[in-house]
Amino acid sequence: MADQQRDVIEILSQDHREVEAMFRELEDLRGRTSEEDRARRKDLVDNVTIELVRHAVAEETQVYPAVKEKVSDEEAERAKREHAEAEKTMKQLERLDPEDPSFDQELETLMREIRGHVAEEEGVMFTHMREVFSQEELEKLGGRVDAVKKVAPTRPHPMTPNDATVRLAVGPAASLFDRLRDAVSGRGQNS
Ligand SMILES: [Fe+2]
Ligand SMILES: [Fe+2]
Repeated sequence: MADQQRDVIEILSQDHREVEAMFRELEDLRGRTSEEDRARRKDLVDNVTIELVRHAVAEETQVYPAVKEKVSDEEAERAKREHAEAEKTMKQLERLDPEDPSFDQELETLMREIRGHVAEEEGVMFTHMREVFSQEELEKLGGRVDAVKKVAPTRPHPMTPNDATVRLAVGPAASLFDRLRDAVSGRGQNS
């Protein structure tokens, strides 16, 4: 067939690598004080937040329910708890300027939480998914994850690092989780 659907584990793992690349860049910029570098850090944090939200919403609405049903209730619940923790940290981070002494601390917390969570997913959950789901099922889930990710913006805003108004207007974490969850779960589910 012409366009081959990637399976859900390939898609999610690639997202994880993209997030890690942004984390590395943020670590490289740590302690750099030029206005340009500080603005770059803020933009990177915004972008990594958007990427994490799209990813987490796709997982929570399409992947974890399937994991819960066919792999393990406990693994799905644990992953959701870890998302909720990281979501709190992202909301904290969003309120802070990169100059704020708490910024680095919150960023460290976020990176620690996400890296731990990713290691858990790739090391445990994805391994179990490969055992339990057929390749066809994994590709079908992949299609649904791609569809959900398209609902969310790919980037919070074009690069306008010095425009505080723009940044305030589009703060990515505050309500994006909720808006996205509503948009995605409004279809075919009543809870
Ligand atoms: Fe993930
Ligand atoms: Fe996750």
